[in-house]
Amino acid sequence: MKANDQITRYHKFADIPDPLLEEARVLTKNSPYRQTYHIEPETGYLNDPNGFTYVNGKYHLCYQWTPLRYLEGKNVWYQAWYHLESVDLINWRPLGPLLEPDTVYESHGVYSGSAIDNGKELLIFYTGNTRDENWIRTPYQIIARVNENGDVVKELPPAISGVVNGYTDHFRDPKIWKHNQEFYALAGIQRENKSGASMLLHSMDGSQWVPLGEIQTSYKTLGYMWECPDYFELDDNGVLLFCAQGLNNQHDPSTNIYSVLCLVGKPLDYETLSFEHNDYQTFDHGFDIYALQSMMTPDGRRIMVGWMGISDMQYPTEQYGYCGTLTIPRELTVREGKLFQNPARELESLRTAHELYTPNISKNNPFKVKSGASFESKIKFKHSGVGCIYVAIRSNADCSKSILITVDLDKNQLILDREKSGIAINEKFGTTRVVNHKFDNEIQLRLFSDTSSVELFIDDGAVALSNRIFPDNNQEYLVIWTESEYVSASIELWQLTKSKNLV
Ligand code: FRU
Repeated sequence: MKANDQITRYHKFADIPDPLLEEARVLTKNSPYRQTYHIEPETGYLNDPNGFTYVNGKYHLCYQWTPLRYLEGKNVWYQAWYHLESVDLINWRPLGPLLEPDTVYESHGVYSGSAIDNGKELLIFYTGNTRDENWIRTPYQIIARVNENGDVVKELPPAISGVVNGYTDHFRDPKIWKHNQEFYALAGIQRENKSGASMLLHSMDGSQWVPLGEIQTSYKTLGYMWECPDYFELDDNGVLLFCAQGLNNQHDPSTNIYSVLCLVGKPLDYETLSFEHNDYQTFDHGFDIYALQSMMTPDGRRIMVGWMGISDMQYPTEQYGYCGTLTIPRELTVREGKLFQNPARELESLRTAHELYTPNISKNNPFKVKSGASFESKIKFKHSGVGCIYVAIRSNADCSKSILITVDLDKNQLILDREKSGIAINEKFGTTRVVNHKFDNEIQLRLFSDTSSVELFIDDGAVALSNRIFPDNNQEYLVIWTESEYVSASIELWQLTKSKNLV
């Protein structure tokens, strides 16, 4: 957007005229694609999860929210954090905007950030985005404190104003944590040579912050910017997740243009900032995953949620005035230097009707069951080790439409094809994703389907694929067939109930 088409910026949610919000809400209500147990915005645009944390018996989760993005010509822009809370990670109570763009340090958006439990208060660290009349950006890294009554106090002037020497104005998304009683945060940053990195920030008291320097990885030119980095330790491993922009499929044809990557290694050396790690891993091989954020539950599990979407993509919900959904919560673990992700166990509370099938499947003897749209399935295959196994999710009766998974036992590849999954989306970025994965004699697939998404976990979370799909009403079957000599399967299917909105 150029400076001369700048739109009016409202500073408070309360300034947005009610009729406009109502117009957007009515549009959204008519959507056939509303999810039943995934978080979506009541209207407008949802992107990154923010401030995911647990304080005093409650989980807090916010998301980047631009409520009127799709009301064309209405000249309203407002980018804030929308706040939800939950006691179980499944049923969320919507609380409305938490951080609003109400100071000069965030005139062009309250951007992403994170939170920690700081003795009953929520200590938030986030980026305020600003542009001047020439559209020059100045980023601010801002601390905010939220007390038990939900009152927000922003500490101004910001903890860090402007750019860091040697880096551009792309400096944002601090992820905060505590180590040895001191505060650290990791922010995404762009070097002056236009490559991406992550910058470690430090504070003794949570208020005064200084940039310490880059985390030293072996990747010096991987994408032009790293957004939303996240660092944590799991057992004796250091894990660095980040969103690399601009990979252009150069390293891995299964990689999205904006892609979540993961480095697993030894714990970060806080003195030298060196991080010894294995080769990077694509965090999730699906079409729609970005900007994830993790937190630690009171019982010590590392749980993450991500945005099931990517910037610059278009989705059919936009005609209904909204876009974006978050992933299900997932537990992260490390085994033998590799990150695994699996659905958080809390999701079991959504299960209702259960069926178990144990068919022998072949080409002429396919397995077919009516699954509906909102379901979970756990599938296990034992096979002859050759040929392909096909799993059509959200299929119509004659299998001409579905999101199709091919398990290729000869090539040790998993192929996901969404070309015929319903309304075509973002086809210029490809319609298949291919993952190299060594299959054992027993293969496990776990999948979570909702009205307009399918999340897939292979072999106990060694591979994950998150995808939006926009099928017809009659795409309500799960169909499995095979070209292998034999496949014996065990297929569990649960219908999933709507998650409860606690208000
Ligand atoms: C990632 C991102 C962040 C930024 C936010 C703004 O999707 O670009 O880097 O803080 O979105 O909404």
